Amino acid sequence: MTHTLPAIAPGRLPALLAAMPKAELHIHIEGSLEPEMVFALARRNGVALPWASVQELRRAYAFTDLQSFLDLYYQGAAVLRTEEDFYDLALAYLARAAMDNVVHAEIFFDPQTHTARGVAMDTVVRGLARACMDARQRHGIGATLILSFLRHLSEREAFETLEQALPLREHFIGVGLDSSELGHPPEKFERVFRRCRELGLHLVAHAGEEGPPAYIWQALDLLHAERIDHGVQAVHDAALVRRLASERIPLTVCPLSNQKLQVFPDLRQHNLKALLDAGLAATANSDDPAYFGGYLNENLRQVFDATGMGARHAWQLAHHSFEASFAPAADKARWNELLLDAFERHAASR
Ligand code: HPA
Ligand code: ZN
Repeated sequence: MTHTLPAIAPGRLPALLAAMPKAELHIHIEGSLEPEMVFALARRNGVALPWASVQELRRAYAFTDLQSFLDLYYQGAAVLRTEEDFYDLALAYLARAAMDNVVHAEIFFDPQTHTARGVAMDTVVRGLARACMDARQRHGIGATLILSFLRHLSEREAFETLEQALPLREHFIGVGLDSSELGHPPEKFERVFRRCRELGLHLVAHAGEEGPPAYIWQALDLLHAERIDHGVQAVHDAALVRRLASERIPLTVCPLSNQKLQVFPDLRQHNLKALLDAGLAATANSDDPAYFGGYLNENLRQVFDATGMGARHAWQLAHHSFEASFAPAADKARWNELLLDAFERHAASR
């Protein structure tokens, strides 16, 4: 299929990256909470904040590792209280993603960070799900939800969260695993994921962001994850890279996240190009765009600039994003057509 790609002049690549249709498969909705919305929701809900201004909060976004980010991310999420808050948050993200020509988003949410503050599961899920429905009408973007377990909490708490969410089963398509990776290997959640698998939920897991290749093996072999979120540490294990390539296991890579959390402090060192060139089904995503300095197109712009990727890589990233999604085959076929259309519109002869 790739050999039919029309030639793209280097000067047209930035416009093509922005214009091409794409799916976003690694976005934490709480990570799309912009500082302005933190302050607006704090005012609306009468929540006191430890920062004097939007500027002061933004200045605090200087991270040394994953944990330094998570500490702030959970603090920010504390302003979310009502169904309307979750609705507004998700609709704002989807409107912004549609501007980047994202046609489909599979959105993580972290219910435990909200239920721990006394917010009902129902409030969280209904607000998010209603935004997903309305976004299709208003912005022409499709969206589904993935419930993510916090791995720094216990197996028992994950099971309790699953039980609370099951009455809302129709509103989410799968489960994921996020939060502090080191010291919380996937094996801790083997039984929870087995139960989710029996329930017919899709399974994904963060692995190999900061953690070792062994965590990626566990996510595949013990959790039966269908996609690996991040997975960039796989390159340290040649046998793992061969497995990921031969089984076409998607990696949802997040360039600006990796830079801001010092996984690759210099984006020129990022291995997205190497992963693609090794035949892996890597995708590009924004992770927590409000915290890491950019939505999906900004991630693409910066990582292409820094690593010298070309039009074929652009096509691969968008094509992989469709193939790796949990959307129906007919949608994938339509998006692949739109992708080719975008390449033809930006072809050298035009
Ligand atoms: N890693 C782990 N947990 C997270 C992340 C991440 O990049 N973003 C939000 N929760
Ligand atoms: Zn993430």
